[in-house]
Amino acid sequence: QKIYLKDYTPPAYLVDTVHLTFKLSPNATRVNSKIRFRPNPDSDSRDFFVHGEHLTLIRAAIDGQECSPVVTDKGLTAQAPDAPFTWEAEVEINPQDNTALEGLYMSNGMYCTQCEAEGFRRITYYPDRPDVMATFTVRIEGDLPVLLSNGNPTASGDGWAEWHDPWPKPSYLFALVAGDLRNHPDSFTTKSGRKVDLNIWVRPDDIDKCAFGMEALKKSMKWDEDVYGREYDLDLFNIVAVDDFNMGAMENKGLNIFNSSCVLASPETATDANFERIEAIIAHEYFHNWTGNRITCRDWFQLCLKEGLTVYRDSQFTSDVRSRAVKRISDVDGLRAVQFREDNGPLAHPVRPDSFVEINNFYTATVYEKGAEVVGMLKRLVGDDAYAQALDLYFERHDGQAVTIEDWLKVFEDTTGRDLGQFMRWYSQAGTPRLTVTDDFKDSTYTLNFKQYTPPTPGQDVKQPQVIPIAVGLLTPNGDEVQETVVLEMTKPEQSFEFKGLSSRPVPSILREFSAPVILEQDTDNETRAFLMAHDTDPFNRRESGNALARDVLRRMITDGAAPDPMYLEAKAKILTDEALDPAFRALVMSLPTQEELAQMLFDTGHTPDPEAIFNATQTLAQASAERLKQDLPRIYAAHQVKGPYSPDAGPAGHRVLANSALWLLSRLDGCKQAQAQYDAADNMTQQISALGCLQYFDHGADATQAFYDQWRHDRLVIDKWFAMQVSNTRPDQTVATAQALTEHADFDMKNPNRFRAVFGALAWHHAGFHQADGAGYRLLADWLIKLDPVNPQTTARMSTAFQSWRRYDEGRQALMRAELERIMSTPDLSGDTGEMVGRILEG
Ligand code: ARG
Ligand code: ZN
Repeated sequence: QKIYLKDYTPPAYLVDTVHLTFKLSPNATRVNSKIRFRPNPDSDSRDFFVHGEHLTLIRAAIDGQECSPVVTDKGLTAQAPDAPFTWEAEVEINPQDNTALEGLYMSNGMYCTQCEAEGFRRITYYPDRPDVMATFTVRIEGDLPVLLSNGNPTASGDGWAEWHDPWPKPSYLFALVAGDLRNHPDSFTTKSGRKVDLNIWVRPDDIDKCAFGMEALKKSMKWDEDVYGREYDLDLFNIVAVDDFNMGAMENKGLNIFNSSCVLASPETATDANFERIEAIIAHEYFHNWTGNRITCRDWFQLCLKEGLTVYRDSQFTSDVRSRAVKRISDVDGLRAVQFREDNGPLAHPVRPDSFVEINNFYTATVYEKGAEVVGMLKRLVGDDAYAQALDLYFERHDGQAVTIEDWLKVFEDTTGRDLGQFMRWYSQAGTPRLTVTDDFKDSTYTLNFKQYTPPTPGQDVKQPQVIPIAVGLLTPNGDEVQETVVLEMTKPEQSFEFKGLSSRPVPSILREFSAPVILEQDTDNETRAFLMAHDTDPFNRRESGNALARDVLRRMITDGAAPDPMYLEAKAKILTDEALDPAFRALVMSLPTQEELAQMLFDTGHTPDPEAIFNATQTLAQASAERLKQDLPRIYAAHQVKGPYSPDAGPAGHRVLANSALWLLSRLDGCKQAQAQYDAADNMTQQISALGCLQYFDHGADATQAFYDQWRHDRLVIDKWFAMQVSNTRPDQTVATAQALTEHADFDMKNPNRFRAVFGALAWHHAGFHQADGAGYRLLADWLIKLDPVNPQTTARMSTAFQSWRRYDEGRQALMRAELERIMSTPDLSGDTGEMVGRILEG
């Protein structure tokens, strides 16, 4: 059932201390709890309710007196005193059969937990809500060599260990791990001299894949001290890698648990992109120690309070340790592909949602990525110094508390004296604002006229104007900057801004660095776009002009059957061959807009996207590009080969990504000769998999695909890539059959989310393959979602978003998708997770 932000009430009882004892056993783990409750002075209610799901209650007592609570499948109620008291309970749980991967479960013989958001209630009876914070003491009994929980170890012996976490925390940050694990140890000394032991715990086979993650952790710890003044607060920090995990990773206090794909890396098995992502996720989880753990959320509607801010912080970190321009460009590519799609369809919701059925369905690109954009806009509006002061005040004022977005904005208001009432709409209003711009030049004055409009979203018909920070620079027609970047602050539906004293009409560069998450509609001709591509001083907009040009060229090819525009091919060739530019940046200019992005753009401009036509146009344009660059490609490919031992640093990774984008084009011309040579010589995964991709894509991949499997069959994470690659690199008419065949492979295992996503994530992202006109892609995915739902509702619900844009397509496809959605919806005993998601997709 649906719950609403406006219905928030404080808990009737608070908790001071929690003592837990776990007697581990795969099918029958016993959990004993001893919890000190006290009445909450801020609540009038004395109803004692504690959450509990999938628990067998063995006994319960209040202040030592056995009691018989009223138990439902959601929790229990009991008569409790209007004074402090001790609650004790013993429950039995079944980690072995817990395939939902929430609460305590088993993965490859090890015990592990995932409690965020509401998994702790599958471990024991408890007020499982983030505004109840307590200190935890944990005893683990189990016949396994490594027994871990939060905080510091206090005692241990043969088959048992005790842990104490001195920092009060909500139950969602609880964690326990037990298994036959090896550690990769290191240490870090904080600015104030605390020596912290660091460990990455893994299964014995993976011990050689920890070094990079450890370096990333130490870098993150240092960065948070230097940039935010935040030090670590325990003597120990543990990270554990787990194979079966619904999400990326989890910031449990002092005991972060990671999907093994988000921490394990070696040059032979992980790509440059994997390394970069691992570094960012380790940073993200570490940064949560302050933005999430020390200061947490009052309720789950405030999820963006910790996630938006922490994503923003990890993106700052990556910009600092790698390339700022490249990071910004790739973040915006991701935002547009995933968040814009969400914000412009049936699943649109505010950054701070005001209602939900299942909170797990709101760990979305809107909460995370748009949430981070909102923090970035706030920083741009108040300035860097005020942002730093506001953050200091936030940490000082709210340390140890569970707070709200109102509290967060108040520190900015108190620091700057600004009224952030209108800014609050970024948190409460769903949908991507459209920003249109026109310009005038008269009497040495240049004027930019903006209009904003946000289309209706489910449940929000009418939108109010937002505060939009628009970063603008002006160039002269010969490419000099006459106006360096200024931030225009738009607050009204229509607003004009003047630039005086200009001797000639300038060329505007608008929304530099993508200063707001909006769709900019600008009536620019392609000459101007090509000019900005060559001359803009803002690297983000330089690439964006190229992208806008490509979108326009592709749109004309798709809707009017136009030929590839030579102007675009020339402009692109200029960037590609400009050896003064950062190779990673050049590779981004090389890339075409994704087919998903093109479908969005077509729909937005009043066309019905035809997946096949979109696919064909991108092929034709890529082929034309390859032919235009015939002379240059072999030279660029050769010039950017990296000599010497592999390093995942941004420098060498940039050379590889450029050489490999050249290889993709070259493979269209040379029958994959170079790709085969690269495959045969590769000594790292980046080179190996890029070559494999070319071979597969251009139908020369059968032998390499088999060889790759034989080489890597023992390595789960590499085999995940093997599954995904085969689907991603098919021709559209082969995608579904390939995915289907892979589900019959002996190594396919739907219980493992990484493996399921490898096949079906790749299918869902293969735009033309998934949207085959006969509906085979829809049918195959729906079949498997129906199979997966009883096993793992959370992952099922998440994957069902593949259908979210169904109303964008032609009637035939719409009918086919609707039928599949309805078939899922009518499945007996469908989970609440999937029911909510599919219901919203159908109705919105
Ligand atoms: N807090 C984690 C992170 O973003 C995400 C965990 C979400 N898990 C879930 N089952 N909803 O770092
Ligand atoms: Zn997070």
